[in-house]
Amino acid sequence: MSSNNGAKILAMAGKGGTGKTTLTALLIKYLTSMNLTPVLAVDADANANLNELLGLDVDVTLGEIRDRMKTETPQGMTKNEFMEFHINQAIIEASGFDLLVMGQPEGPGCYCMANSILAEVMAKLARNYRYLLVDNEAGMEHLSRLNLRKIDTLFVVSDPSARGILTAARIAELTKALAVQVQQKVLVVNRVPQPVPESLDNHVKDAVSKTDLLFGGYVAASQEIFDTEMAQGSLLELPENTPAVQQAFKIFDKFIGSGQ
Ligand SMILES: Nc1ncnc2c1ncn2[C@@H]1O[C@H](COP(=O)(O)OP(=O)(O)OP(=O)(O)O)[C@@H](O)[C@H]1O
Ligand SMILES: [Mg+2]
Repeated sequence: MSSNNGAKILAMAGKGGTGKTTLTALLIKYLTSMNLTPVLAVDADANANLNELLGLDVDVTLGEIRDRMKTETPQGMTKNEFMEFHINQAIIEASGFDLLVMGQPEGPGCYCMANSILAEVMAKLARNYRYLLVDNEAGMEHLSRLNLRKIDTLFVVSDPSARGILTAARIAELTKALAVQVQQKVLVVNRVPQPVPESLDNHVKDAVSKTDLLFGGYVAASQEIFDTEMAQGSLLELPENTPAVQQAFKIFDKFIGSGQ
């Protein structure tokens, strides 16, 4: 446990609908099945939906706690204690991992103090975990909401298209302007037809040669993922021999797990 606040930080980036949340769920499945625990998953998407793919209900979000701190005067507690108490209450405990939902970003007005306390409490909390996973919405600015100092591995997820791969390359470049230092960026091309078309592979090779993106791998367009989503089931229940699960696990093995 070498990095930021003890926990290794793994985060998702990529344009809308490419599979960031799906891969976050598969990453949780991977880490828990390899006993690389405890894991804290943070849903940083304002339109939170990671919990649905994990079969969990959300009672309260960090955004709601921050808003409450702005208006409620805590009785017999400092604001720090108040936030810490409520954040601990907002942690959803599942088997091998916990989930915290950020919720809506702040409205107009100054939330500087609430946000700085939030960052402080989060940093303290992260020390209790081996991995911290962050599922983002599209757009890199959301990564800054967490005030992370460092990201160990950023998975940049792309759809299987020429423009998708170009966008992934652009995202890799954009991260250089962020305050957060990214150790490695790993390209994952998701929902890929099988066998992998050579034309796609050529675009991927080109993007990898022109950026600091490392090539993670291809994850197939999966009937099993589709069916699970349709049935509103949990991706954690997918059998490990599902091809898309195996492909994702192979990527995780190489960049974060035992293969690293
Ligand atoms: N490998 C796959 N095979 C089949 N369906 C997939 C696969 N990956 C993702 N999907 C489906 O694609 C849709 C979008 O996936 P997901 O919600 O994970 O994307 P996202 O990048 O998190 O989107 P957003 O930017 O809106 O947060 C979902 O319906 C999901 O079930
Ligand atoms: Mg998502």
